[in-house]
Amino acid sequence: MNLAARRRVNPSGHAAARPVVAPGAPCVLKIGGDLLEDSRKRRALVGGVVRTRAHLPLVVIHGGGAQVSRVAEKLGLKPTFRQGLRVTDEPMAEVAEMVLSGQVNKALVATLVQEGVPAIGLSGKDLGLVEAVAVPGLGRVGVPLRVRAERLWELLALGYTPVLASIAADARGQTLNINADHLAAAVAGAIGARHLLLLSSSGGVRRDPDNRRSSLVRMLSTLEVEARIALGALTRGMIPKVRAAKRALEQGVERVGILAPGSAAELSGALRHGKGKGTWIVRGPETLPRKSKTLRLSSPTRRKRGGPGTAPAKEGV
Ligand SMILES: Nc1ncnc2c1ncn2[C@@H]1O[C@H](COP(=O)(O)OP(=O)(O)OP(=O)(O)O)[C@@H](O)[C@H]1O
Ligand SMILES: [Mg+2]
Repeated sequence: MNLAARRRVNPSGHAAARPVVAPGAPCVLKIGGDLLEDSRKRRALVGGVVRTRAHLPLVVIHGGGAQVSRVAEKLGLKPTFRQGLRVTDEPMAEVAEMVLSGQVNKALVATLVQEGVPAIGLSGKDLGLVEAVAVPGLGRVGVPLRVRAERLWELLALGYTPVLASIAADARGQTLNINADHLAAAVAGAIGARHLLLLSSSGGVRRDPDNRRSSLVRMLSTLEVEARIALGALTRGMIPKVRAAKRALEQGVERVGILAPGSAAELSGALRHGKGKGTWIVRGPETLPRKSKTLRLSSPTRRKRGGPGTAPAKEGV
């Protein structure tokens, strides 16, 4: 095709690149907002995406809790949380959308594009990717009801890396603020992801929720999740995170980890092999008989349900 003809097809004059469609099983990478604020950590994360996307299809989801709170406070709005979820009235929903879908999403996409990743920034609203439903009592907070996985697959097949902000609409088109861990779990389940990584500056679940230097819980059974919440060992943003991890496992994701890889190589290794330093959430009683020492079994929740081997507790949001 001569140049004039190519320009007619592609007005920019760039030769159309062949899409890179990675052969491996898909993975979902969720990045906590405050990791994106540190330039060294951001570089490592972007480097990890660059290394990984040649090997497997990757969907990136990001939070931005710290950024939303900062802008909200500047505008005179007071951030409040219930069980780790941001209580969101209408003005707060506007701020959340502006900050997450606008500032945070575009900054991350621009960095990825600079490094050669064909990243496309979207929220759950775009292409109708995510339909959400409001959580009673929290205002404009939603949980994902339906994910159009086939549309994400179409983007992946074109060689693009979707980067999703955790905003969606309900069936009437009303904006809802979604916890990014909830969104990541729903997307991972819907696209049949093999691994889901929830990257958080906490580096994983710590034994003491108020001490960032306390030791990491390396493996956490889904059967321990509700008891740990009831005992106060998991608080604030860790509550939706571990519930989301549990939900993803229930939906067939093989490995779910909460971690903070320090380098591009570490992140790529964690995505590809489902291994790395942090907390790995594991199904049901897998760890309980040996690890029951890690959790005092005084929880009434646990006794009532009859211990290891019973069905996982029904979770709230
Ligand atoms: N046992 C625990 N171990 C570690 N962190 C805990 C624990 N319990 C509660 N936390 C809190 O959970 C927070 C992580 O959740 P948070 O929602 O703040 O961040 P994120 O989900 O990584 O980012 P974003 O909300 O922007 O997506 C930690 O900063 C910490 O304060
Ligand atoms: Mg969070």
